[in-house]
Amino acid sequence: MTQQPEVIYLKDYKVPVFLIDHTELRFELKPDKTLVKARLKMRRNPESQDVTRELVLQGDKSLLLCRISVDEHVLNESDFQRNEQGLVVSGVPDQFLLETVTEIHPDQNTALEGLYRSDGVYCTQCEAEGFRRITFYLDRPDVMSVFSTTIEADKDAYPVLLSNGNPVAEGEADEGRHWITWEDPHPKPAYLFALVAGDLKLIEDQYQTLSGRDVALRIYAADKDLDKLDYAMQSLINAMRWDEQVYGREYDLDIYMIVAVDFFNMGAMENKGLNVFNTSCVLASPETTTDLGFQRVEGVVAHEYFHNWSGNRVTCRDWFQLSLKEGFTVFRDAEFSADMNSRTVKRVEDVALLRTAQFAEDAGPMAHPILPASFIEISNFYTMTIYEKGAEVVRMIHTLLGADAFRKGSDLYFDRHDGQAVTTEDFVKAMEDASGKSLVQFRHWYNQAGTPVLNITDAFDSETKTYKLTISQSCPATPGQEVKQPYHIPIAIGLLDSQGGDLVLPNGETTQVLELHHAEQTFEFGGIHEKPVPSLLRGFSAPVKLNYPYSRDNLTFLMSHDSDGFSRWEAAQKLGVDILQSLVADLGQGKELQLGLLLGDAFKVVLDNKDLDKAMVAKVLTLPSEAYLSELADVIDVDAIHEARQFVRQHLANQLETEFYSTYKVCTSTDAYSPSADSIARRSLRNTCLSYLMATGKQEYLELALVQFHEADNMTDSQAALSLVVHSNFVKAGEVILDQFYQRWIDQPLVVNQWLSVQASNPQRGALVQVENLMKHEAFNLQNPNKVRSLIASFCSLNPVNFHAIDGSGYRFLAEQVITLNSLNPQIASRLVTPLTRWKRYNLDRQDIMRKQLQRIMDSGELSRDVFEVVSKSLA
Ligand code: PHE
Ligand code: ZN
Repeated sequence: MTQQPEVIYLKDYKVPVFLIDHTELRFELKPDKTLVKARLKMRRNPESQDVTRELVLQGDKSLLLCRISVDEHVLNESDFQRNEQGLVVSGVPDQFLLETVTEIHPDQNTALEGLYRSDGVYCTQCEAEGFRRITFYLDRPDVMSVFSTTIEADKDAYPVLLSNGNPVAEGEADEGRHWITWEDPHPKPAYLFALVAGDLKLIEDQYQTLSGRDVALRIYAADKDLDKLDYAMQSLINAMRWDEQVYGREYDLDIYMIVAVDFFNMGAMENKGLNVFNTSCVLASPETTTDLGFQRVEGVVAHEYFHNWSGNRVTCRDWFQLSLKEGFTVFRDAEFSADMNSRTVKRVEDVALLRTAQFAEDAGPMAHPILPASFIEISNFYTMTIYEKGAEVVRMIHTLLGADAFRKGSDLYFDRHDGQAVTTEDFVKAMEDASGKSLVQFRHWYNQAGTPVLNITDAFDSETKTYKLTISQSCPATPGQEVKQPYHIPIAIGLLDSQGGDLVLPNGETTQVLELHHAEQTFEFGGIHEKPVPSLLRGFSAPVKLNYPYSRDNLTFLMSHDSDGFSRWEAAQKLGVDILQSLVADLGQGKELQLGLLLGDAFKVVLDNKDLDKAMVAKVLTLPSEAYLSELADVIDVDAIHEARQFVRQHLANQLETEFYSTYKVCTSTDAYSPSADSIARRSLRNTCLSYLMATGKQEYLELALVQFHEADNMTDSQAALSLVVHSNFVKAGEVILDQFYQRWIDQPLVVNQWLSVQASNPQRGALVQVENLMKHEAFNLQNPNKVRSLIASFCSLNPVNFHAIDGSGYRFLAEQVITLNSLNPQIASRLVTPLTRWKRYNLDRQDIMRKQLQRIMDSGELSRDVFEVVSKSLA
């Protein structure tokens, strides 16, 4: 890197000098090149103070400018200037027509931003700044324009030509070519533009909106995948209905299209009226898709649909405001999934993810507030923080305001800002205005990074019959933010009597939200007759770490009595963490591991309780993950964490073998597969039991797993059995079924990806060699992000023991992949490097070898802005 890339600051924001009222595009798609003809109706922005006559357009280096004219007057070299960022045209009038002809090369586009080809299908990805790889433009979200798009291509190879809005004209052209023109009446920023051209098939349905308008719903995919689209369609219809019922939001075009493509950097994209989806987030069938996959399809389809209001109708002023649309939309899709399935299970899953991945981000070198103050490359800010923590912040507003006031706030936000590009401040203001509740202090959640820590102590006075909770808060320093102001934190609590019943709290209910404002605050409860057991942070009412000196008995008590399902799970997790942490410490001191019966007895009570939701039983029985234990550790001892967890699993397996086996049998069913919450729950508990049975190491359970593998009529059961056997000591059996699995699913790329991932995450020795071999396998392709995620990312994040091998082989491997991918696909390269950036969390030996590999990436030659930002911040 010769030149230090520029840092962009929120404080430098200025309104655009020019606006684009109308954008007319014509794409001529040809095998060797694509011509993009743009006609932009532009005018000076009356709100801008800037009087310059220079028009600055963004345009990627790769664009070949063939022709440019202003008001039909062709410009020559002296009228404009090309530079690294784009184009500067001098002497433009207040209102004008700008026309350009640009040549681009979609076939050489491996970065998958802009216009590229995925398995022969042309498609676009414009968020965040991909449109500038298509043509010269004001590529910023506060420039909103009406688009009209004509696509011309070979008719046989590309019978389907799609863009945003409605088709308004079509015709034949010479040499077997055809064209279609699409018009989108809704002004939109360029990042919501989309184009698709290919040989695609579709399924179609109809939806009638609340006000009685008919909408055509179309989902496009390759012919071979046509049988896997029904679940996405049903999810879309459910999401449309839900958004009408819960938010009063209707769809606003005549057509809603989804297109599935195999090469995609992210999950999916909410382009107006034409979502482009990663196949992994839209295709679903019982034979090929796990329950998790079904739920992902439902959630992502809904997420992209909800963006039509939270993102498209009301969009972001600039990219610092990304969480405005993403945090809100994740909150919306989480509530949707909670309503469609089990609310508690959804919450547990989301919290587990947040506490491992997002908390780790907050504790790392890339920590940033949900409203960041600066960035080098915006693609690096599509993070757990912007998305998941952003959703938690919206959830806290919901908790503080209550459902009714929150709805009033969202109505006001949508009405006030419809058609505008706005800020998170506008969102918070609407919530305040509609509810009358001050969110002044609450705003710290938007501009402070880091995970707040709550320390809670309590005291009971039997004379005055008062119970006091004293809560103090702090937040660790993060890069660029040494000192934090106290947050406004909603803390939902309950108090349990010695029988396990809920006490009635001052608000007349059994759960009350305490509002913490100060660094330390005491809350008093009167009329309490015995010392209660507090149930703290019910439903995870704030994204914080909470310390309270629970005894192990307190925790088992809460596990079986807390009326809040989330808190019962949380008590089990806390108990697991407590036990595992002390075993990790024992290992550190060379002590032999010992474990009593307490945890097993508590698990047995849960297993025996027939009233509980099976999915929740499975969650409670699952020990805290290695990732979560790592996040909690001061210094991460990878091997000790793995060993301690394996030890406890084996111990529980032996203690409760009979119970696990009988529960396994109870959960076995001959009913046909259904992705309903009930049957997902049954499979989940059954596979949890199987994993414990396998942990006994007994041959008979290997047989059981093999029977399940061979007889399964669905991918959930087959994949669960596969990974249990492959990850066990039964090496030969694992090899045999891996082979059978591959042969059976060779034509289903998404299943083959699972096959890669099972091998990459194998904790047994030798996984790296296996991964390196698989990189040469026909099933692998470094240019396909799904393959990279399944193999390389799985190894580096789901296989801590092997990735962190003390000889440094895992780190070297990752550095090599990042260096290669840096030039092929910078976004993927920069995401991949994450595990190395966490080097400060490990012991000095590991720190040293991890740093060396980061430095090696740094010195490897010209780095993309994406990789440069992450690696340089990690080394700082
Ligand atoms: N905006 C997309 C979503 O959250 C994610 C995305 C970002 C996709 C950037 C592609 C590129 O739904
Ligand atoms: Zn989104």
